[in-house]
Amino acid sequence: MDFLPVFLDIKSRPCAVIGGGDVAARKAKLLQAAQGQVTVIAPTLGKTLKTQAENGEITHLAKAYSQVPLEGYALIIAATDDAVVNRQIAESARQRNIPVNVVDNPDAGSFIMPSIIDRSPVIAAVSTGGASPVLARLIRARLESLIPAGYGRLGELTARYRKRVKEAFQTIGERRRFWDHILQGSVAERVFSGHMEEAEAVLEKELREFSADGSMGEVYLVGGGPGDPDLLTFRALRLMQQADVVVYDRLVAPAVLEMVRQDAERIYVGKERDRHAMHQEEINALLAKLAKEGKRVVRLKGGDPFIFGRGGEEIDTLAEQGVPFQVIPGITAASGCATYSGIPLTHRDYAQSVTFVTGHLKDGSMNLNWHQLAQPHQTIVFYMGLMGLPVIVEQLIAHGVPENMPIALVQQGTTHMQRVFTGNLSNILELVEREQPRPPTLIMVGEVVQLHEKLSWYKGKNTDRQRA
Ligand SMILES: C[S@@+](CC[C@H](N)C(=O)[O-])C[C@H]1O[C@@H](n2cnc3c(N)ncnc32)[C@H](O)[C@@H]1O
Repeated sequence: MDFLPVFLDIKSRPCAVIGGGDVAARKAKLLQAAQGQVTVIAPTLGKTLKTQAENGEITHLAKAYSQVPLEGYALIIAATDDAVVNRQIAESARQRNIPVNVVDNPDAGSFIMPSIIDRSPVIAAVSTGGASPVLARLIRARLESLIPAGYGRLGELTARYRKRVKEAFQTIGERRRFWDHILQGSVAERVFSGHMEEAEAVLEKELREFSADGSMGEVYLVGGGPGDPDLLTFRALRLMQQADVVVYDRLVAPAVLEMVRQDAERIYVGKERDRHAMHQEEINALLAKLAKEGKRVVRLKGGDPFIFGRGGEEIDTLAEQGVPFQVIPGITAASGCATYSGIPLTHRDYAQSVTFVTGHLKDGSMNLNWHQLAQPHQTIVFYMGLMGLPVIVEQLIAHGVPENMPIALVQQGTTHMQRVFTGNLSNILELVEREQPRPPTLIMVGEVVQLHEKLSWYKGKNTDRQRA
């Protein structure tokens, strides 16, 4: 980070705005909103500041800044229309260790002013470190629409109950769970719809009941998607942000793991081909144990938990042991890889159905219904099929699929490292031998693959396309 975001308490503290124009007026207004005592230093004032000075809302010193001692100010904003003067002000302030902001010149001062969303006491601040104020404003506009106006009232309500909640719950974990429950449940909804009394009554009730049986945690079996974090669902993201602990394996992309709450405990349970860091039974038991300790556990899986993800096995154990859980679907690799490589899985002209199968080798073979997979007008997607590709090619041809049937391999689909290899059944092994794709790689077989040439649209930093 180039800047440390902080929120400064300037209540009743002397703050100087140097400059008398519109920009200075906007800055003075912000300082006033934060209850600073504002002095504007400028030989003359524009209309807005002049009115404020006449009303006694600000103090006006009708002088050049060089005639005014800067000592004693808690904060200075250089807002003249002269860049050289602004830099001189910054230098004087720095020499006196006074925080200084220079408008339109983030490098000259010691702090910058973010774009803010004010739902006091809730304030969200956005900064691009001066790189792009327009982008900061755009992000702010999006946040404005995401943060209901009622968040201010919610903030006030929680402030009033903070002490009591602290007394009611001994640990930080318990308190956090309680607040999560309140801020995302019916209390918050009542506040947003303006029913404050009702909200408070429900909060009182929750405070009594939650303390009675609030010790059991919960497991969220979350589909993390194929790699691009933008493909997470809102719910997945929300639960990831609430997790006390995240249990994840190899397939979860680092960029997705990044989205989990920063101070959540991270437990890696591995699972590489034939090299299991932890056995499935141990993972199942671990999830139940963590939840019974009262933790909110995110079990983060690549893709969708219910598609070749053993999600069913994991929640089976939880259900048996009475541990509450939720399952959050994710974008499965077939869907992600197909869209990001421009290969529609179905198409009116080429494929009327799509089949997902596992290409996992067991004792050197695959126990699949090859006769069915060899039927025309369909797309077949092989998960975990990279090692077994020679078997796939051999069996499809042996069961009557033409040797020129298009086939695509997508490595690390949807990420910046995505690689797409296309060819047909007769030449794909040669390409694979040459290019050595690595897991995770998804295999798609069918006429639809030929559309890749025309429909491919995704370009990441290191994406690559190879044709046999
Ligand atoms: C154990 S399965 C898990 C599938 C996951 N539950 C899903 O719904 O995508 C692992 C296989 O999924 C495929 N896979 C998962 N993510 C992928 C990605 N980003 N790119 C290509 N293939 C991927 C690979 O075939 C990999 O061997």
